[in-house]
Amino acid sequence: MSNSTRRIDYLVKGAGPLQGHLRIPGDKSISHRALMLAAIAEGSTHVSGFLDGADTLATMQALQAMGVVVDRHGPHELTVHGVGLHGLQPPAGALYLGNSGTSVRLLSGLLAGQKFDTELTGDASLSRRPMRRVVEPLRQMQADIECTEAGTLPIHIRGGRQLTGITYTMPVASAQLKSALLLAGLYASGRTCVIEPAATRDHTERMLTHFGCRIEQADKQICLSSQKLMARDIEVPADISSATFFLVAAAITAGSDLYLEKIGVNPTRHAVLEILQAMGADITLHNQQIRSGEPVADIRVRSGKLQGIAIPESLVPIAIDEFPAILIAAACASGTTRLSGAAELRVKESDRIQALASGLQALGIQVQTSTDGMLVEGGKLSGGVVDSCTDHRIAMAFTVAGLVAAGPVTVQDCVNVNTSFPGFIDLLRQVGCAIEVRERDYA
Ligand code: S3P
Repeated sequence: MSNSTRRIDYLVKGAGPLQGHLRIPGDKSISHRALMLAAIAEGSTHVSGFLDGADTLATMQALQAMGVVVDRHGPHELTVHGVGLHGLQPPAGALYLGNSGTSVRLLSGLLAGQKFDTELTGDASLSRRPMRRVVEPLRQMQADIECTEAGTLPIHIRGGRQLTGITYTMPVASAQLKSALLLAGLYASGRTCVIEPAATRDHTERMLTHFGCRIEQADKQICLSSQKLMARDIEVPADISSATFFLVAAAITAGSDLYLEKIGVNPTRHAVLEILQAMGADITLHNQQIRSGEPVADIRVRSGKLQGIAIPESLVPIAIDEFPAILIAAACASGTTRLSGAAELRVKESDRIQALASGLQALGIQVQTSTDGMLVEGGKLSGGVVDSCTDHRIAMAFTVAGLVAAGPVTVQDCVNVNTSFPGFIDLLRQVGCAIEVRERDYA
């Protein structure tokens, strides 16, 4: 059931100044976690601001296949009827998780402690991504779990094992890995502790706390023991990763002034603001508040003159999804931007270092790649044809590039934009961008 037979290309013809107020769709990471934690909580959880994207729907369908009832009140509002820690039922077949790394990795942790067997599968891109990082520590917790020799999907989990808590120092700064182990820890005897090499997004910890779970956090260590979760309503903020495409679009398009409402500005996600501000972008925050344990703010962005910077490596793990857009800003800045310490970009929905380098070169920008980053020489973007490599964020980044290019830009294979940002093109058009969507069958 992959999307590979339908091919969607965007033809970007430019934009005048981008102006208006926008509501960006809900946060993908928080929407996944809302579904999973609500599913194993006691009681019903009302979720508003839910991201109705292909990735979060993959998580929802997997949970429904295990007996969780979800009432949809509208595209962004639903109620999850929790079955408690031990109430999930064996699914009838393999759980297909499409393009979604967050679904596979977090569910691996959640399913490792169940009484029944499961198989997790995904599309071609997800089937190339590394899974051993999750499988190995779960095995140390006594889970019976395996992936292929190559460390990829499918993952097979045999149920009925009593998990044991461990203290695990993560070899990579990955919130998906951290979250998988914390979810497994809910089913383990003793304490489960995860030590991060660098801070990563902390939505799982915040939402577990919101559901009444006791977590101990000190420095880079997060610990918990098995305990019940109590249902509590969740307001999902708008996704700062999705908002980033509009932040960059407005920053690079002369005369722009956009106001983005209720964006999640959790400190483990907002490094993109710091990076764009260091490049000279005019970004201000308004109406800061806390909703369901997450910081939220409106963000105003106006166009400005950007300059290249050396991106501090300490910010890389907490801006990891924003680099496709940030490097488009770099291509429009004066001078050189240096990204390093970002090897994880090579194992996202595509090899993003390669995909960005090829796309920028196709638009006349000089780049140099290394194993863990790249140098981008700011310049004038030309028109051209860019392969998104079926990666949603590469597709959206080059759509934004097309707004300021000297000629039309065709971005190929954009169907996966729906994984994280349904309505992306409609919103761009709403603020004054000229984009055509072309659909054709894959040869
Ligand atoms: C996510 C964590 C990040 C991010 C992904 C979503 C999450 O991955 O790239 O889009 O929801 O936990 P890693 O934790 O593997 O870096």
